[in-house]
Amino acid sequence: MKLAVFKNEEELDLAAAKSMIEVINENPEATLGLATGQTPIGLYQKLVQAYQKGQVTFKQVTTYNIDEYVGLEKEHPQSFYHFMKTHLFSHIDLNEVQIHIPNGTASNLEEETERYESLLMKAGQLDIQILSIGLNGHIGFNEPGNTLHAETHVVTLTEDTRKVNSKSFPSLAEVPKKAITMGLGPMMKAKKIIFIAKGEEKAAILKQAFKGPIDPLVPGSLLQLHPNIEVYLDEKAVKYMM
Ligand code: GLP
Repeated sequence: MKLAVFKNEEELDLAAAKSMIEVINENPEATLGLATGQTPIGLYQKLVQAYQKGQVTFKQVTTYNIDEYVGLEKEHPQSFYHFMKTHLFSHIDLNEVQIHIPNGTASNLEEETERYESLLMKAGQLDIQILSIGLNGHIGFNEPGNTLHAETHVVTLTEDTRKVNSKSFPSLAEVPKKAITMGLGPMMKAKKIIFIAKGEEKAAILKQAFKGPIDPLVPGSLLQLHPNIEVYLDEKAVKYMM
């Protein structure tokens, strides 16, 4: 694990974006596993700025988002597709055909998980996988439990997760109860993981994930086993790891 600690989010986001841009400039057809949540917003802003300055093009990349809520239309303001359009996709040279994200309104969710899984299998080893971690240790929507899944699957969100994620919904009641998530397989198979976490609120779970035992009750702990993970933290997030 390569750990880098930053005084502020600006420097952290810039460093993580630089690592991504290097990969894309070396391989313009790079495959990118993308995450949502507050944490990667700054990274996506830096990617947009680099594109606007002509430092990178996304013309030939393919993107695979790790998760999507069940039951929200793509255009729903709280869907992860809408999140990605808002923070990245609408601002760079990326066509719709290059974007892949689970369809949370599929009539047959099991079929949708199979469709998405076969897409990921066809993609093979993703060149980059962006990840952060939930307060309960979830990665994507791989929630704590006695078992973890390698493949794309439908997950019932824990009430903890629904409460934390309700910050971006008008009310808790409107937070979906289920989601479709990439399993840990493609993430662990990725050539490089760019892991980002910020703020004191993540310090405790980061210590568990990176300094604790490998434990399915802390899905993030599996990341200790990845051979090429770059961990970008700010000083508040790293406080229990040193
Ligand atoms: C969300 C997403 C995860 C994300 C995590 C942390 O539920 N499904 O992919 O990493 O929670 O989100 P945040 O970055 O807002 O703390």
